Amino acid sequence: MAASNKDTKFSGVFFQTERLIVRKWRDPDIEDMILGLNNERTAHDFNVPFPYSENDAKAYLQKTKNSKNGSLYFAVCYKNSNHVIGGGGIYLKGDVYLVGFWIKESEQKKGLGRELLQGVSDYVFDVLHQDVIYAIYYEWNVNSQKLISSCHFSIITEPPFKAQSKQAVYVCYSRAQRDSLKQKTSKKKTNPRF
Ligand SMILES: CC(C)(COP(=O)(O)OP(=O)(O)OC[C@H]1O[C@@H](n2cnc3c(N)ncnc32)[C@H](O)[C@@H]1OP(=O)(O)O)[C@@H](O)C(=O)NCCC(=O)NCCS
Repeated sequence: MAASNKDTKFSGVFFQTERLIVRKWRDPDIEDMILGLNNERTAHDFNVPFPYSENDAKAYLQKTKNSKNGSLYFAVCYKNSNHVIGGGGIYLKGDVYLVGFWIKESEQKKGLGRELLQGVSDYVFDVLHQDVIYAIYYEWNVNSQKLISSCHFSIITEPPFKAQSKQAVYVCYSRAQRDSLKQKTSKKKTNPRF
């Protein structure tokens, strides 16, 4: 059952999309976190150790609880399940937010990554009141590159935070772009010939 606004307030839910609930991490999530991240490709692409051990998961969970740096760490579940199928962070870098996330391999290629990134962007614009959201992909990570470009992020050469690696490509997406796309979509719906 989808969470109500009341659930959202009291159960650490950041936001929901059509199919997903994006919420805070909880202690019982450890097993799902290991199942998702103890995968060579996902671990490599999300830049976490492989094999991904119980200690790695416990340390990460502790980090998400103790975080006082303004960054948000989230777990991703289907709406009808409490099992975690992905996770990530909306990291505060100076006064801007940078997003990074993963989806468990068995759940990839179902449009969830795209749905999640659109939801995160809306959250950053509408709840965190930012005009721009930033992301990074690595030149070798074709899946990430395709996903990010399909969500209309564009490449920037001078990110407003410290560069991470020479292979990192910096991208951003703005509230103005989102609003203009929304307007075009609603015009198309009301007038299919538009
Ligand atoms: C990058 C990542 C998040 C993509 O997640 P995902 O859920 O597979 O993303 P999507 O399903 O939205 O899109 C992936 C592909 O599936 C396709 N797709 C979308 N909906 C689909 C559907 N219903 N059925 C089949 N394919 C679908 C998309 O068109 C896209 O195709 P393309 O790669 O040819 O462009 C995932 O591969 C991952 O977790 N990688 C490891 C971590 C990582 O790289 N993180 C960086 C993210 S910034």
